[in-house]
Amino acid sequence: MVKVLFVCLGNICRSPMAEAIFRDLVKKNQLSEKISIDSAGTSGWHIGNPPHKGTLKILKKYKISEQGLKARQFTADDLYTFDYIVVMDDKNLDDVKRIGEGPAKVLRLLDIVEASERKNVPDPYHTGDFEETYELVTKGCDVLLQLIKEEHQL
Ligand code: 4NP
Repeated sequence: MVKVLFVCLGNICRSPMAEAIFRDLVKKNQLSEKISIDSAGTSGWHIGNPPHKGTLKILKKYKISEQGLKARQFTADDLYTFDYIVVMDDKNLDDVKRIGEGPAKVLRLLDIVEASERKNVPDPYHTGDFEETYELVTKGCDVLLQLIKEEHQL
């Protein structure tokens, strides 16, 4: 099983959106038995909470299931449990590195999208623009699946 963890600050806007979008994509590629997906926040501010209503609204709009999304905090153990830790911005990258290190590959989602000029996924908690975040996360997830397929011969 290839294990993927998406990480942002609060785990209520960007990373649960990425978790749901990537799970949907993996399912459409018939890879649900091979790839498992989770998300976490570097902060503990929203532990146990459902996603932000803006994230739920955008998932509903694009008919993507919100099932199983519940905020939790990132821990140093995650660097041993997961194969890929996919963060949303440079602050998340710094925070994850500060929390620990381990065998997991830590990468920023938009770093793998060569054509993207933006390298940080904007935080809709502050911008209010969940559509922009959805589009960038979707692009990143497409490339991430190709990368995982290649690296694991799936
Ligand atoms: P996220 O957005 O990291 O994409 O989940 C945020 C959610 C909540 C807060 C900040 C960012 N907050 O300050 O509570």
